[in-house]
Amino acid sequence: MSATIIDGKKLAAEIREEVALKVAERRAAGKSVPGLATVLVGEDPASQVYVRSKHRACEKLGLNSFSHALPATTPQHQLIELIDELNNDPRVHGILVQLPLPDGFSEEEVLLKVSLKKDVDGFHPINIGKLAQKGRTPSFVPCTPAGVIELLKTTGVSIEGKNAVVLGRSNIVGMPVALLLVRENATVTSCHSRSQDLPSITRTADILVASVGKAEMVRADWVKPGAVIIDVGINHVDDPSAEKGYRLVGDVAFDEVRAVASAITPVPGGVGPMTIAMLMHNTLKAAELAD
Ligand code: GUN
Repeated sequence: MSATIIDGKKLAAEIREEVALKVAERRAAGKSVPGLATVLVGEDPASQVYVRSKHRACEKLGLNSFSHALPATTPQHQLIELIDELNNDPRVHGILVQLPLPDGFSEEEVLLKVSLKKDVDGFHPINIGKLAQKGRTPSFVPCTPAGVIELLKTTGVSIEGKNAVVLGRSNIVGMPVALLLVRENATVTSCHSRSQDLPSITRTADILVASVGKAEMVRADWVKPGAVIIDVGINHVDDPSAEKGYRLVGDVAFDEVRAVASAITPVPGGVGPMTIAMLMHNTLKAAELAD
């Protein structure tokens, strides 16, 4: 079997196009233009790149964006004051605090401060709590996990009743993905670095989501024939033959797993583009909620 490639680039482009259209319609109707405020604390180069691409996406789609960069030495209370200001700014519909925060900050206290109406990252503890509870609806769902579910839905494979295994339990991806899969009525196993005999667990998966940050960890013999594979990993590996001296690979050994799975996301071009597309979608939704 050679797996179908799940095209995240294409799906993300469709979502962005739909957002851009709706933003243009809002402008034409004299409604508010959705606005995203980003808060970046410290100078982590990867975070700087991510935040820049979020602003670029806003610009391309016609959303307003407001950038706030604070030094890592900023006292916690000053960051909280900034979030309060953004909560009260009517031009700002979504607030994104780039994670991780530098050492010394209380992430929990910061995320608790973000207005639930502007929590476009879906990381407010109340939104995560609602995600974990039956019959509750979070105002927003975290972007990468929401993107994972959208990608799964494009395969036409039903999630309900399937065995889903999530490798990794981070607050940003693994745990919310597991919670979303439970909401989709999958039977979900969450595994992590302390799990024993990972391959025997992943081989039970009809749907396997890998989000551990370990280059090509999932091998062909970890995968049940016909499984659907979503690879969230983005790992740099040295490659002197590449222009930049490195190449990007996922948490899944793509070439060999492709021969076993029925569908698989590539890296790059799978989950990656979905994160920003879902963020744009959430920011539009926040503006609609504020109407
Ligand atoms: N760091 C890595 N991914 C994310 C994300 O989706 N949102 C935020 N705020 N920080 C991140």
